[in-house]
Amino acid sequence: MNKKNQRIARLVLALMLGSGASGANGADETYSITPKTMVDTLHLVIKAGRASYTQTVINRLTKEEKVIKVSEHFIDDRALALPAQFFRHSAEIVDDNIKNNDNLDFNYALRSLWPIRKKNGPQTAAEKAGLKYVADSQGDTYYAEEVLDGKKYFTAVYADVAVSPVCVSCHNTHKRSPRRDFELNDVMGGIVIRIGLTN
Ligand code: HEC
Repeated sequence: MNKKNQRIARLVLALMLGSGASGANGADETYSITPKTMVDTLHLVIKAGRASYTQTVINRLTKEEKVIKVSEHFIDDRALALPAQFFRHSAEIVDDNIKNNDNLDFNYALRSLWPIRKKNGPQTAAEKAGLKYVADSQGDTYYAEEVLDGKKYFTAVYADVAVSPVCVSCHNTHKRSPRRDFELNDVMGGIVIRIGLTN
């Protein structure tokens, strides 16, 4: 096939797929998406996962049907994991998968300036600034570029708000919690989402 015919074939394929696909595997070489749109989209999916687990598993089985408890020591107690543990476990699965994929550079975490689990404290200057920003602004999102190990990243921090009284009561009374004056609707921490940037 000559070049012109190849172009036409690609165009036909793109029209058939209805997606503007220009590569053989459907990967698009023409369009781009801004890092902000990308992280905002990822945030919706990540947030939905935790909300769905909280609603369809935790609230239903522990509060409504009372068939099982939720516990931080869920393995020993043969109980359900906390939403924050479910969240971290999901993020760790993403980390494991990304290690084997050179094309993807993405990670996320639930962090706080007042973490129950010390490792959930800020890990970079941008995370620290972002957590402070979302707490001070009562919920605006923080966006920044950062360079880590010589690589450029786009990093966003989304406020994590005490939407229910149990958020407040558990954190305020937890023996490892460094902060005990949370109130309903306070920003308790943030979801950090980071994607690698390439030119
Ligand atoms: C029954 C206790 C409990 C409840 C309820 C609870 N948390 Fe947590 N939360 C924890 C524990 C324990 C961790 C540490 C989990 C880990 O990473 O191992 C944690 C982690 C977090 C973190 C990460 C920083 C840290 O403290 O380690 C944030 C932010 C957070 N929770 C916010 C919330 C919000 C918002 C709610 C309500 C929607 C909530 N939590 C409900 C116990 C609780």
